[in-house]
Amino acid sequence: MTTLRAVVTGASSGIGRATVVRLRAEGWDVVAVARREALLAELAHVTGCDTVVADVTSAADVAALAAHVEAGGALQALVNNAGGAVGWDLIGDTDPADWTSQYELNVVGTVRVTQALLPALTRSGRGDVVMVTSTAGHEPYENGAGYVAAKAAAVAMTRTLRMELTGTGVRVMEIAPGMVHTDEFSLHRFGGDTARAAAVYQGIEPLVAEDVADAVAWALTRPHHVNIDTMVIRPREQAGAHKVVRRT
Ligand SMILES: NC(=O)c1ccc[n+]([C@@H]2O[C@H](COP(=O)([O-])OP(=O)(O)OC[C@H]3O[C@@H](n4cnc5c(N)ncnc54)[C@H](OP(=O)(O)O)[C@@H]3O)[C@@H](O)[C@H]2O)c1
Repeated sequence: MTTLRAVVTGASSGIGRATVVRLRAEGWDVVAVARREALLAELAHVTGCDTVVADVTSAADVAALAAHVEAGGALQALVNNAGGAVGWDLIGDTDPADWTSQYELNVVGTVRVTQALLPALTRSGRGDVVMVTSTAGHEPYENGAGYVAAKAAAVAMTRTLRMELTGTGVRVMEIAPGMVHTDEFSLHRFGGDTARAAAVYQGIEPLVAEDVADAVAWALTRPHHVNIDTMVIRPREQAGAHKVVRRT
């Protein structure tokens, strides 16, 4: 049987890293992509994955990624996972620069990588694009509007892409997680404030990166006539953005 090959962005930590580990364990060849070279080298050491150091917001980096992927043979899957949130402010107080950077990363970066790898995915005859969006893209909450808006745009882009690619043999699937306790997501959102980051997950059992990687792997391994349009995955104690039941 032919070995399948996937590109995973945002692979140096959290959900992306767990997805690389999972896909490698299931026998995929994987190209792991992120900006931090040392973390990718460690991941390659542990899993045997291929790596490309790239910033998804850089056209030159993404072109180099596409050239690397083309040189390595066929490509069956792209997991667009690189992303993140910045800040926790009411719209009246937010810095517009944070909106721009979140849009650039979560939306334009995803478009850029998808565009660059689409020819290879289409050529494979059984390509998959998996978008790791967020429940934030489906359900707004106060203080997170820049991220909510960016992920809502990522959801809209995903739905549009699915329509555009129907009939080409390429599936477009969305995994929308709720609260996932990864080492860096909330730390990054709160500018390195460890206490605020830890408080996000206090009193509940949040998802972990491996739970989302499990969903990604499951979606990718359905028979290829099955398209998992959208999977919303949350911790049991989180029924919605405003419904989180914490142990006191
Ligand atoms: N954690 C949650 O609660 C949660 C919930 C719903 C959705 N999500 C989404 O799930 C995805 C992964 O989140 P996570 O929790 O695993 O966060 P994370 O641990 O902070 O991982 C983010 C990854 O993206 C990479 N990245 C950031 N900027 C990049 C850029 N410009 N170019 C290339 N790579 C870049 C980071 O690596 P480098 O810094 O090395 O580049 C890192 O590997 C994100 O799209 C996030 O929005 C997370």
